[in-house]
Amino acid sequence: MKIKLFSIAFILAVFYACSPKISQPEAPITTEAVLSPELAQGKILYENNCAKCHDLFNPKSFSAEQWIPIMLNMQKKAKISDEEREIIYAYLIK
Ligand code: HEC
Repeated sequence: MKIKLFSIAFILAVFYACSPKISQPEAPITTEAVLSPELAQGKILYENNCAKCHDLFNPKSFSAEQWIPIMLNMQKKAKISDEEREIIYAYLIK
């Protein structure tokens, strides 16, 4: 009986030692400071187009609903395309 148990343990040990190591995929970095490429582009567009006439407003100063009329108004002033406006808007409400 003892020998049987020992051989089972031995076989298990061999199996364990020979099984290939499954490498864990690296966990994605999800800190708030890291912006997705789209949001990073929005930030750049915002900083480049929206600070000409006044200081940059804190995105958190206005809600997503409030930013809509503001962006439509400021788009004309900043002379940006609809696409640029959308990218900036996505950044502002992130
Ligand atoms: C050509 C000059 C000019 C540019 C460029 C400009 N703004 Fe303005 N912005 C103004 C003026 C003038 C006001 C205040 C009067 C008004 O609301 O029209 C203002 C006001 C604001 C306000 C305050 C609105 C409120 O209700 O208190 C926000 C927010 C704002 N701008 C955001 C932006 C953003 C975002 C951009 C870039 C897309 C931008 N601005 C580009 C001239 C500009």
